[in-house]
Amino acid sequence: MSKRFYLTTAIDYVNGEPHLGHAYEKVITDIIARTHSSLGQNVFYLTGLDEHGQKVQAAANAEGKDPQLYCDQFADIWEKFAEKLNLSNADFVRTSSERHKNFVQAVLQKLFKNNQFYQAEYRGFYSARQETFLTEKDRGEDGNFDPIYGEVTELIENNYYFKLGEHQQWLIEHIEDNPDFVQPETRRNEVLGFLKNNTLEDLCISRPKSRLEWGITLPFDEEYVTYVWFDALSNYTSIPAALGDSATTKAIGLDTKTEKVSLWPADIHVIGKDILKFHAVYWPIMLKAMELELPKQVLVHGWWQKDGQKMSKTTGNVVDPIDVIDEWSVDAFRYYVVRELDIGPDGNWTDESFQARYSAELANGLGNLVNRSLSMLNRYRNGTLNVESDELEADAEKWIAEALNNYKSHKIQPALVSIWGLVDRANQYVEQTAPFKLAKQEDKAHRLDEVLYNLAEACRILAVLLWPVMPETAEKIFDQVGIAKKPCDFSQAKWGGLSKGHTCNKPTPLFPRKDLEKK
Ligand code: ME8
Ligand code: MG
Repeated sequence: MSKRFYLTTAIDYVNGEPHLGHAYEKVITDIIARTHSSLGQNVFYLTGLDEHGQKVQAAANAEGKDPQLYCDQFADIWEKFAEKLNLSNADFVRTSSERHKNFVQAVLQKLFKNNQFYQAEYRGFYSARQETFLTEKDRGEDGNFDPIYGEVTELIENNYYFKLGEHQQWLIEHIEDNPDFVQPETRRNEVLGFLKNNTLEDLCISRPKSRLEWGITLPFDEEYVTYVWFDALSNYTSIPAALGDSATTKAIGLDTKTEKVSLWPADIHVIGKDILKFHAVYWPIMLKAMELELPKQVLVHGWWQKDGQKMSKTTGNVVDPIDVIDEWSVDAFRYYVVRELDIGPDGNWTDESFQARYSAELANGLGNLVNRSLSMLNRYRNGTLNVESDELEADAEKWIAEALNNYKSHKIQPALVSIWGLVDRANQYVEQTAPFKLAKQEDKAHRLDEVLYNLAEACRILAVLLWPVMPETAEKIFDQVGIAKKPCDFSQAKWGGLSKGHTCNKPTPLFPRKDLEKK
């Protein structure tokens, strides 16, 4: 069975509503998923929810709800959110599900049996908000812990630890030998710097049930649940295992009679910069201990602010992706976040910049091109192409090649810049050839036919190139150009797809202009 291109997002904590950061990560991942699918690969995109742990337990308690019920209600909102973003995810993981829990318990049992864990007493400081232990090193110059840790309490408790020390050297070598393993480069250097300048402390992988009940019970000690990060990271392998991926089941000693799907190792884990250490240090070590292959890449994106400030519900400084989508369309949202921000640096959302791009690039750029090209074809030729022509072929092929190269290396923002090279060239071609003038001159009928062909063909190609980023718009363009297929295959991005005699439909505006004065 051939392995599918397997990519994942971080799984989101279910203690609140989805926000711009969550939406951004899922959109990037979806665009990469659709890119590979357009390249002819069989893709599996996994996203979902991180439901266990102190944060969720506390949030459920605050509402007087049973944590499972609390998660079930939120899961519904998050699954609808994935649909709202038009994600092409093949599955949706919830860490409170049996299929996930079974796998995590099998992993814990295996590592316990292989002497990867030991028990020890812990004395020290604990941050419930960050679900992490702190040491003297974490105190600031004024002796206090950073406010991001919330209330810090002192604890003495017995816990299970995962030995990390023996893994440090091979991990450094792996990251050095595989430049693609952590991308972009700045994040790779960050991990290497951390690994070379620190000795890895063993990782506490248990929480006493007296303190935290909402988790997965350790199979070898009922008094404990497992640390939420051990639980959460395992989702990337638990779902493949549950679906019958033998690479994951065999290593853990679960039986799969017939292999139903081949996913592991993951091709890309897409995550935000704050959880780099978990994915580039703890997760590879967990996998090595599980005797599983490492993922091929951890791709790290930056964080969004709004109006130059950290987004925060308490101050009301947030972008609600659902409101933006309801007002401006899902594709306008998807387009803006990746056109505005490259994968890596931090970004800043402003409504002004969103509206400026909507109006210049979507309504006046792409929308106007498709609308006037197909309107003229309908007005002057009843929608039918009377000739074929290659006048824009060389220009188009140049932008196609550039866009595809960018897509292949997951450079989404540069891919859009290349695609807009073609949008702008085609709009300029309308101005240069002035088909509205040609239509008034009887002896220019053939010339008008040529121009209309070039414009219709440019629109067709744009749909194919745009599909990963704006699937709904791309499908609308195909529909308007009169093609019954879907634009979900890059092999269609080649000049000359439309034939003489083909008839296009009448256009409807893709990105209606908004009268902002009225608001
Ligand atoms: O960390 N801009 O969940 P989470 C961009 N459950 N991305 C942002 C962001 C922002 N303002 N805020 C958050 C968790 N993110 C764990 C993950 S994975 C096994 C477990 C990103 O809900 C963040 O970087 O706090 C992370 O990748 C994702 O949203 C989920 O964050
Ligand atoms: Mg977070």
